[in-house]
Amino acid sequence: MKKISNFIFVALFISLILTACAPAANSSTSSLDGKTLVDEKCSTCHSADAVMNEGMTQAEWSNVVLRMIGHGLKVTDVEQTTIVAYLAQTYP
Ligand code: HEC
Repeated sequence: MKKISNFIFVALFISLILTACAPAANSSTSSLDGKTLVDEKCSTCHSADAVMNEGMTQAEWSNVVLRMIGHGLKVTDVEQTTIVAYLAQTYP
C-alpha cells in the first residue's frame, strides 16, 4: 500500500511540474537583456539556483540551452544567443 501511494505522489508531482511549464510556451518576450530572459524563461521549470551553480563554457551552456529547448523551452534565435552569452559570461 505504501509503495502505491508513493507512486501516486510522484505521478502527481510530475504532472504538477509539467503543468507549471505549460504557460512558459505561450509567453513571447523579445529584445530583453540576458538576465531578464534567464529570470523569465528558465525559472518556469526549475529554480534559478539550478542555473546559478553551474560553471560552464559557452559551448557547454549552448548545449544546456539546446537541451532545455528539447524539454519545451520556447525562445527565438536571438533570445537563445543572448541567453547563452549571458550564462557563459555570468557563470563561467
Ligand atoms: C520546459 C522546462 C524547462 C525550461 C524552460 C528550462 N529547463 Fe533547465 N531543466 C529542465 C529539466 C527537465 C531538467 C533536468 C533534466 C536535464 O538535465 O536535462 C533541467 C536541468 C537544467 C540544468 C541542470 C542540468 C545540467 O546538465 O547541468 C541546468 C543548468 C538548466 N536546466 C538550465 C536551464 C536554463 C539556463 C534555462 C533557460 C534558458 C532552462 N534550464 C529552462 C527543464 C527546463
